[in-house]
Amino acid sequence: MQDRPLEKTLYKHFGYEQFREGQKEIIEELLNGNDVLGILPTGTGKSMCYQLPSLLLEGTVIVVSPLISLMVDQVKQLKQQGMKRVVAINSFLTPMQKQQVYDHINHYKLIYCSPEMLQNAQFMQTLKEKVSVSLFVVDEAHCISQWGHEFRTDYLKLDDTLKQLNNPTVLALSATAPVHVQNDIMRQINRPDMQKHIFPMDRENIAFTVEHVTGMEEKIERIASVLKTHPVPTMIYFSSRQWTEKAAYELTQATSGLRVAYYHGGMEQTDRLLIQQQFMNDQLDVICCTSAFGMGVNKSNIRLVIHAHIPSQVESFLQEVGRAGRDGEQSVSLTFYSPGDGEIPKRFIESELPSAELVSDAIQYLQNIAQNGRLLPLQPEEIEESLQISEVQWRFLAYQFEKNGVIKGRKVVHQANWGEAYHSIVAFIKERTNIKQNKLTELLNWVHSKDCLRASLYQSFQSSYKTPVGFCCDRCDFSFNLWETSETPDRMELLGWEKELQKVFLQGEYQ
Ligand SMILES: Nc1ncnc2c1ncn2[C@@H]1O[C@H](COP(=O)(O)OP(=O)(O)OP(=O)(O)O)[C@@H](O)[C@H]1O
Ligand SMILES: [Mg+2]
Ligand SMILES: [Zn+2]
Repeated sequence: MQDRPLEKTLYKHFGYEQFREGQKEIIEELLNGNDVLGILPTGTGKSMCYQLPSLLLEGTVIVVSPLISLMVDQVKQLKQQGMKRVVAINSFLTPMQKQQVYDHINHYKLIYCSPEMLQNAQFMQTLKEKVSVSLFVVDEAHCISQWGHEFRTDYLKLDDTLKQLNNPTVLALSATAPVHVQNDIMRQINRPDMQKHIFPMDRENIAFTVEHVTGMEEKIERIASVLKTHPVPTMIYFSSRQWTEKAAYELTQATSGLRVAYYHGGMEQTDRLLIQQQFMNDQLDVICCTSAFGMGVNKSNIRLVIHAHIPSQVESFLQEVGRAGRDGEQSVSLTFYSPGDGEIPKRFIESELPSAELVSDAIQYLQNIAQNGRLLPLQPEEIEESLQISEVQWRFLAYQFEKNGVIKGRKVVHQANWGEAYHSIVAFIKERTNIKQNKLTELLNWVHSKDCLRASLYQSFQSSYKTPVGFCCDRCDFSFNLWETSETPDRMELLGWEKELQKVFLQGEYQ
């Protein structure tokens, strides 16, 4: 290890003797100042690709992360490993705490934030004045392509942020980016010449099984019976908040003794963090959740990931399945399908973006404002109310109108080319909806596939896959009665609610 300084740093700071596939070459590339697009499987240590450089580079590393829970989790794990100069800037900080962080911003080597935060003028000013950014990381970079076009349009403004920060080296990371998404990422951040380090994304210790059932009742019965014979740390994905709650209740009754909780985006942020932490600490066995839970979550011993409902695309499915078996042990993905299940994501896709009629209504509304020489209301809620559209739909439209020269901030451009804007926005909506429908079809085809589930799952991403270390899939060799699980989760004593929260926050981002 003597003359291998990178290995030495890895061991000294993180306790690992060697790099995992891809890590070292990505780190070397970054230290040489090259932009990198890194695609590595879920759970293989993508975070290390920027955590280690942050210790070696002069200046600061900025990490753009899509979810607060993800940032909090990462900062907590880093602090446990002894890295103190790390902070996550998000809505959990009080204005005073935020100010304190800003005052000492150059103290931090690693700063996590959301893409929305980078549109905050005070934050950007602070960065520009006080910090020299040596590396700019976009973690879960597929979000640029998956969410950027619709409801998190700030993901499409990262190229401008990069300019403002003096064009630092960029690292974009993802586990689930097929070629068209990789290209979209590079196009959107305007770094066409990134060095690509792309590895096969299949996980050889996860076995796949799909069960066709008649409906939700049968799904819950089946889940309960699987959990009785295999009481392992489990995540169960549902398409609706109501179902997570209902299923958590029913499974608690049916399994007597398993600690089941639910998690969804409608819960208070603090409750969500609490549940996440309890699950991470093995104080909960089963989480019934929506897609709000999961991305990037790094709990090593999740053995079973169940999809009671399918998501709307293979990438999301792989992200969610990727929570399983991060310690390398045999784990299982169980997916349920009942007739009509494709309808839920289909309707979701259709409702996510505004209809042509809504675009036309919105244009009339804007023309009205322009004719009366007014500005757009300060509160977007007012616009949403007038147009009877959702927040996501307005965010999408606002970005599109801005892009098509119809609005500038709160000003509506009277002489805008309204007809052209209308047609281009409607065409774009059609294109995005088509892309999404195709992605859904891909997943539905997989659910109905008669062939090896592993082969057909990964085929759109790569030409081959590794030999599985244990079971492959139910078409090849897997069935639940063959799967032996030794462990029952550790039963750590449950602390009181307040104490738990205190613990979460003490280890949290700002002290
Ligand atoms: N070289 C290494 N040797 C052993 N363990 C490692 C190494 N590098 C990282 N790890 C560990 O691997 C685990 C997973 O890492 P990480 O969360 O970065 O995965 P990821 O690739 O970002 O996954 P996801 O796609 O789900 O976000 C962590 O617990 C991390 O400490
Ligand atoms: Mg990650
Ligand atoms: Zn198989």
